[in-house]
Parts: sequence; structure tokens; C-alpha cells
Amino acid sequence: MITPEQTYQKFAVFYDLYVGRFSADVDFCHSYCSSDKSIVEIGCGTGRILKYLLDKGLSVTGIDISDEMLQKAGAKLEPFVSSGHLKLLNHNFAEKPFETKFDVALLTFYTFNYILDKPEAFLANIHQSLSRQAALLIDVFYPMPLKNKAIDNVWTEKSFEIEGQQVLLKDKRTMNGNIEHRCQVFSINGSEGISIDTFRRYFPPKEMVYLLKNADFSDVKLAPGYDFRSLKCELEESELGDNFIVVAKK
Ligand SMILES: C[S@@+](CC[C@H](N)C(=O)[O-])C[C@H]1O[C@@H](n2cnc3c(N)ncnc32)[C@H](O)[C@@H]1O
Repeated sequence: MITPEQTYQKFAVFYDLYVGRFSADVDFCHSYCSSDKSIVEIGCGTGRILKYLLDKGLSVTGIDISDEMLQKAGAKLEPFVSSGHLKLLNHNFAEKPFETKFDVALLTFYTFNYILDKPEAFLANIHQSLSRQAALLIDVFYPMPLKNKAIDNVWTEKSFEIEGQQVLLKDKRTMNGNIEHRCQVFSINGSEGISIDTFRRYFPPKEMVYLLKNADFSDVKLAPGYDFRSLKCELEESELGDNFIVVAKK
């Protein structure tokens, strides 16, 4: 199976064209951050959320396992790196905890879904890397419509223009149990398509609550979409669209 490192080695070039303008989650993330807290984004990618927080005057650490994504973030946010407001690091919480402790950990835009094996160890290592009463925020991809067999393994196609570039994107998803295999073919300005494979695991709300409590997190709350003002202890699958958010405390 293709690893997230292999996926993002190729995806780094297209990532900002694909989701660079997505901003539905920024208020949710910002609402837990302040200048007296040490903030980390785990799976920071090309720095979409980091930039938003840095522009608000905060200092942040961005961690990822993809050197290609970190390089993109570094190039884009170089002034913040030079001024000492941004640290970018390659570290894998699936393997070990981090050496210093954070007050807020953000796992935005479906990074958690890349943890196919041993999500328990990943969360336990994050827990160890947080200070007392720290907050953990997770945005989990759980698209109910994609569990529809009729759209399994069927190509869809869309084209859009962004930053003066014409993008044609073909997309197909296949489910194998709770693992989604997504194949995307990106073609820019009529060039030959580049194919990118992604494997993601779907975690239902009840499993997220179980995993977090098992990793010793408390006060676990969830909400559909980015509706962070209506966080609650339980979330039914019937309430869901494409994703849900989870917050927990150490
Ligand atoms: C969908 S992107 C999200 C990027 C960014 N958070 C955003 O909101 O635009 C997922 C990112 O998670 C990273 N990732 C995957 N597995 C990871 C892991 N075990 N630890 C840290 N980052 C990981 C990938 O390299 C990729 O940059």
C-alpha cells in the first residue's frame, strides 16, 4: 500500500491548487489558540492553517512527515521562519512523542484519516507531548455519501481555474472495509495527467470517542462539519455530512 509520504511526495505540487483556498475550518482552529499558548499543527502540509494563525500574530510549530509539503510551507512562509514565529519540523507521532510539550494540538483537514495502523499509539504519543489541560482538535473525514456502493469505483471529472491555471481533475474512490483508496489524476493546462493514490481510514464518531478516551483524553466532544459552537458528547451518523470535528482535553 502507498504510504502518506509517497502520496504527498507527488501531491505537494497540486495541493494548494486543490485545497489552498479552503477556509471553513480556520475559525474553529483559531478559537482554541492564543498568544500565551504553544501551538502545534500535526500534518501542517503546505501551511494553509499555519498562515492564517501567523497572520493573526500567533507563533506556531508545524509538523509533518512529508519533506515536500514542509518545503512548500517553508517557501511560502519564509518571513515567519526568519522572524522565529514559525518552526517547521519532520516528526512522526505514529513512532514516538515529541521532546517538548504543547498547549494546543491541531490535526486539521483529515490528517488523522492517514493513520491507518495503530491510531492508539499515534494518540498516546500526542497525549505525552501535551501539557496539562492542553486541547486537541481533530477534523475527521467521514463522508456518508461515499459509503454509497453506487458511486464506488466510478470516475468523476471536474475542471476549474485557479491562479491562472486550468486544472482538470479526475477522481475515483474505492472502499475496502473502512479503508478508502482514492485515485486522482491532475492535469494542468492540458498537460499529461499525473496520477496520485491516497489511502485513508474512515473513523466513525463512536470510534473516535473510544480511541481518545483510551489514550487518556478527557472531555471529548464532537460536532458535525465545523459547527464548533454546538459541540456535544455524542454524535449520530445521521447528523453527518462529509466530516465531523472532535475536541478533547489532556
Ligand atoms: C490533507 S493534508 C492536510 C494539510 C493541512 N493540515 C491542511 O489543512 O491543509 C494531510 C497532511 O498530513 C500529513 N501526514 C500524514 N500522516 C502524517 C503523520 N503520521 N504525521 C504527521 N503528518 C502526517 C501529510 O503529509 C499531509 O501533509
